[in-house]
Amino acid sequence: MGRDVFYITTPIYYPNDVPHIGHAYDAVATDFVARFHRLRGEEVFHLTGTDEHGLKLQRAAESAGSSARAWVDDMEPKWREVWAGLDIGYDDYIRTTEPRHAAAVAKLLQAVHDNGRDDIYLGTYEGLYCVSCEAYYVEADLLEGGLCPIHERPVERMAEENYFFRLSAYADRLLEHYGSTPSAVEPESRRNEVLSVIRGGLEDFSISRTTFDWGIPIPWHPKHVTYVWFDALTNYITAAGYADDPERFARLWPANIHMIGKDILRFHAIYWPAMLMAGGVEPPTQVWAHGFLTVGGKKMSKTNLTGIHPFELLEQFGVDSYRYYFMREMTFGQDGSFSWESMVERHNADLANGLGNLASRVLAMLGSYFDGIVPDAAVAGAASDLPAVTADAAARFEAHLLNIELSPALAAIWDIVARANHYLVEKEPWKLAKDEANRDELASVLYASAETLRILAVLISPIMPRAAADLWSQLGLEDLEAQRLPEAAVWGGLAAGVKTTKGAALFPRFDTD
Ligand code: MSP
Repeated sequence: MGRDVFYITTPIYYPNDVPHIGHAYDAVATDFVARFHRLRGEEVFHLTGTDEHGLKLQRAAESAGSSARAWVDDMEPKWREVWAGLDIGYDDYIRTTEPRHAAAVAKLLQAVHDNGRDDIYLGTYEGLYCVSCEAYYVEADLLEGGLCPIHERPVERMAEENYFFRLSAYADRLLEHYGSTPSAVEPESRRNEVLSVIRGGLEDFSISRTTFDWGIPIPWHPKHVTYVWFDALTNYITAAGYADDPERFARLWPANIHMIGKDILRFHAIYWPAMLMAGGVEPPTQVWAHGFLTVGGKKMSKTNLTGIHPFELLEQFGVDSYRYYFMREMTFGQDGSFSWESMVERHNADLANGLGNLASRVLAMLGSYFDGIVPDAAVAGAASDLPAVTADAAARFEAHLLNIELSPALAAIWDIVARANHYLVEKEPWKLAKDEANRDELASVLYASAETLRILAVLISPIMPRAAADLWSQLGLEDLEAQRLPEAAVWGGLAAGVKTTKGAALFPRFDTD
């Protein structure tokens, strides 16, 4: 089993358009968690990619006067460009149009087909079809008078020959799976949703189409192309080596966490484990479904101008502030509202005035009173509660992150920031510096503050890699990448004699006007 590697995935994104901040939300969260596990010394495999087949893609290409292939080739770099801008450090990027993926889809389809239980069968899909959409609708989706909700034209009763997957046969096994491993779907509210859908009865679903050809052919009947969700979900095992590298697959699979949005929960928590069970593959260890970002209380979309591109915010705030804001401000399992005001407020309060101010004050005083040299630790931290405060907060940070409690994990770090800023106010080192008789106490206060900064740099590194590296080098330290939790957060790691240098502000303050 894939216990050797911490394997975490984002959904694969539809490149029918460019990303908005909603897409970037699960990409940043996944990266935050992946970097945290690396910081703990684990081998991590972080996968992301693009979901490039299906009717939706074909449509987008056609309406732009392009071929599907040319369209996805043109779009996909625009997604990677955003991930690069957001410091998303994925280990592999999968495109479902790659040959390695076609091989994995064919292998899984064949395994299910040949499992001796007739789990894939040929049937007729009957439904209400809109020819303009080339899509089936259920009664409930239609406008009054049975009209297509998009084209406002009558739909037709149509029938198409499709392959079906016998999902209905997997209800008991799925209930058993979630009964024995409740953590396989988080948070709990989403688990309850999944359980109630399963208990309500599962219907077989169609896994092939004959009305268009932008997809992976069904191996034994190539007139059919694989339904886009069967195709897309399989990406998670493709990248782990399912079709071509059994040894690697054994180390990686099952994935530890599939990070997804709540809208694609059923596909991940019902279809996907059932498909794998049918193919003789273990289901993923956990599916974690986060809430949706809204703008002004509205769903994000191009049409109502709420589809904000991440670069619009990056230009203003920089990547660290961007990452921090979304992970700190929102409760990950719930919907959360984005606003410029709240982003400016977080930036100013937590970053500029909080961490940034702490760092610049401490480094400036080390410069003024000790020529930047970290004073002798023998007299350090004696009368301070900072060792206990940092130890407690670092432990809470780790525990929260292991539970995907992203905002509380960051709040734990900011308990340190608040306490350290307050400590300076209490000790008033600028007053101590006025009298040579206070030299030892001054050294002790500044050592404790600088050591706190060192621990803070380690703790923020998964969420704000650039600020962490900057702070680390201002502290005169090397090899941030080599730091490991929990050791790196143990008090006393900063050696006396290190030469610190105050650099530019970590987070320039925004003028709220
Ligand atoms: N291609 C499928 C996923 C296949 S995974 C095997 C897909 N793509 S998507 O591009 O439409 O969405 C990708 C992710 O972005 C989903 O997790 C979705 O929940 C997330 N989000 C899209 N809009 C969002 C918000 N407004 N807020 C938060 N996440 C949102 O679905």
